Amino acid sequence: MRHALLVTGIGELTVNDPQAVDDASRPEPYADAAFVVEDGRIAWLGHAFEAPAADERLDVAGRAVIPGFVDSHAHLVFAGDRAAEFSARMTGTPYSAGGIRTTVAATRAADDETLRGNVRRLIREMARQGTTTVECKTGYGLTVEDELRALRIAKEECDAATFLGAHVVPAEYAERRAEYVKLVRGPMLDACAPYADYVDVFCERGAYDEAETRLVLDAAKARGIPVRLHANQLGHGPGVRLAVEYGAASADHCTHLDAADVEALAGSPTVATLLPGVEFSTRSPYPDARALLDAGARVALATDCNPGSCYTSSMPLCLALAVREMRMSPGEALRAATLGGAAALGRTDLGHLATGARADFAVLDAPSFLHLMYRPGVPLVHSVWKNGTRIA
Ligand code: NIG
Ligand code: FE
Repeated sequence: MRHALLVTGIGELTVNDPQAVDDASRPEPYADAAFVVEDGRIAWLGHAFEAPAADERLDVAGRAVIPGFVDSHAHLVFAGDRAAEFSARMTGTPYSAGGIRTTVAATRAADDETLRGNVRRLIREMARQGTTTVECKTGYGLTVEDELRALRIAKEECDAATFLGAHVVPAEYAERRAEYVKLVRGPMLDACAPYADYVDVFCERGAYDEAETRLVLDAAKARGIPVRLHANQLGHGPGVRLAVEYGAASADHCTHLDAADVEALAGSPTVATLLPGVEFSTRSPYPDARALLDAGARVALATDCNPGSCYTSSMPLCLALAVREMRMSPGEALRAATLGGAAALGRTDLGHLATGARADFAVLDAPSFLHLMYRPGVPLVHSVWKNGTRIA
């Protein structure tokens, strides 16, 4: 039987209507809005005084409501932590891709229940902070068996699962890189393909170079699997250029860009996914978000939640950093964390609350979404709904 829930008493509603032609820096929050949720979707949206009859009413007592965050970049299937590495980094040791191998060893040694439990714990943590959609990568298994089990867990627990067998070259292949790349693009991808929504490569010094990245991307393309890339994180490199050339869904990190990279992203549908929690947690310079936005590139914000470069699950923290450190306007940041993430995952039903969207929203203990950045570090998320059901 159909059940209609009327959400009312909204102090400020951010709809993010993708059809509305408006200034991206000023989402269209409007007062006295209400909406109806039916079958997990937004069935009606308008002024409260015009609201249709419903089976149930939820009065949010003047709080702000936003679309749930779409965290389009996370690495949740792992065991152990690297707090000691973080501590060393904060006192001078630079971040390097090699730290990933520590997590690979812990992940291989963990049983399935431990890995699944960790993913669920992090998703709950994310939900409590307003996140309703999570993309999750593998990349800490690096054997056919361990990548396959990580991807199956990611696929079962998360909204999008990405195969990242080409994260680093595992220690046992250090002297036989070409052989490992062959394994990734052959048997490993064969085993993982049925569960892979995307294939990703860490294209970076200390990880995979251009030729190796092309080999993996070609193998993904040959199987019809869409791609995304870790690009230009630790230094300038070919990653962004390759992402655009291959029509990747997103180029992630984008910390070190030249003018040609910015232009290439602006002229393509590839989303530039910025991960400011990484720069915060590795004490690195932030990406030039303004250059990307001013050139017209599509920008997403995500956490990159992982045990090494950035162990935060908090989209509100990323929003605060984007505004304070990358000079995004609060409206641009909110959009990038919702609609931007949805675009990076090829989803038109997420990241907004226009009629027909999935009923994924967060109620804030604040009169406006601006408080997410204005009150950094404060737990402002009151309640969270996904598919029309309360999850936090
Ligand atoms: O996105 N860049 C590659 N992978 C992760 C880091 C993983 C790690 O340090 O464990 C990232 O930052
Ligand atoms: Fe990452």
